Amino acid sequence: MKAIGCTRSLLITGPDSLQDFELSKPSPQDRDLLVRVEAVSVNPVDTKIRRSQAAEGQEATPRVLGWDVAGVVESVGTLVRLFQAGDEVYYSGSLVRPGANSEYHVVDERLVAQKPASINMEEAAALPLTAITAYEALFERLGISPQGEPEGKVILIIGGAGGVGSLAIQLAKIANLHVIATASRPESQAWCRKMGADEVIDHTQSIPDQLEQLHRPMVEYILNTSQTDQHWEAMCKAIKPQGRICGIVDTMESVDLNALKRKSATFVWEFMFTRSMFKTDDMIEQHHLLTRIAEWVDRNTIQSTLVETLSPINAANLRTAHAMVESGRMIGKLVLAGWPS
Ligand SMILES: NC(=O)c1ccc[n+]([C@@H]2O[C@H](COP(=O)([O-])OP(=O)(O)OC[C@H]3O[C@@H](n4cnc5c(N)ncnc54)[C@H](OP(=O)(O)O)[C@@H]3O)[C@@H](O)[C@H]2O)c1
Repeated sequence: MKAIGCTRSLLITGPDSLQDFELSKPSPQDRDLLVRVEAVSVNPVDTKIRRSQAAEGQEATPRVLGWDVAGVVESVGTLVRLFQAGDEVYYSGSLVRPGANSEYHVVDERLVAQKPASINMEEAAALPLTAITAYEALFERLGISPQGEPEGKVILIIGGAGGVGSLAIQLAKIANLHVIATASRPESQAWCRKMGADEVIDHTQSIPDQLEQLHRPMVEYILNTSQTDQHWEAMCKAIKPQGRICGIVDTMESVDLNALKRKSATFVWEFMFTRSMFKTDDMIEQHHLLTRIAEWVDRNTIQSTLVETLSPINAANLRTAHAMVESGRMIGKLVLAGWPS
């Protein structure tokens, strides 16, 4: 089968940074599905893993990246209970297994859901990784009720126009929160409003000063989709006493946790690969939450965040996609669809 992978850490401008190659088709064991991949999206995790490969020493087989998939179940392992051949599915998968930049891919059924029926494969591939992250961050780590919070509670979403921010804004509106998102350019600010943000401020300016101007100096919840340390001081200032902050990006420098003590404020991490990486007892929650997301999409409560599709799925297009994601200026999601004949 066709696949795309990387053998060592190279700048994305280099023609060998991602390469087309042939790989044998995997077979599904136990609770695995074999999925015929129709569309894939690209996330910052792909570019981070590509760049973290060793600089020297070719790997015998290129590492296959890609953790956002829409496709069709081709066959199932002997212990599979939730799916059958022919089902149209979407999922992110597991970071400790090969990614899905290949014609066929195996994935544990507990991480998979039926694709939303009302959207196409490209629109579906844009969703899973960022939807899981935003869902777990809001409803599990921050403890927000998906049934709806009492009127008047506020969430600040730092980095509102990116993949995760776009889903977080929509989920926060489902939860009846007042949403203040950050974005630094007219087009990313407009996108945040399109996703449902009530107010948009600029993360290149002082966040506390802008919250003061909005007469909302402190907020109940903060989700930071950007660097945790860069916005740490602002978040500590902006969080209400007993409020909750969720981070999803490693700190480059250490932060002062004591800054939250007087407010009895909580800081919590979200890592959407925790369940699959540690095979937690509740791993099937990702099947349930992706099913819930699909229902919201089919009811038009959530819109796909797809903004651009490149075709076919090959190394050249994947290099273009990685370069766009690496720019740090993505709005919504970029998808690759269809295999070359
Ligand atoms: N822990 C997890 O489970 C998890 C899951 C998914 C992603 N992540 C990580 O979370 C980060 C965001 O992921 P993503 O998919 O949303 O990325 P993305 O789509 O590439 O995010 C792009 C957005 O980031 C915004 N941005 C750039 N610099 C910023 C800054 N200094 N402060 C605030 N926002 C800034 C940009 O807004 P403007 O153009 O308006 O400046 C742009 O819209 C990545 O580092 C990713 O690896 C972690």
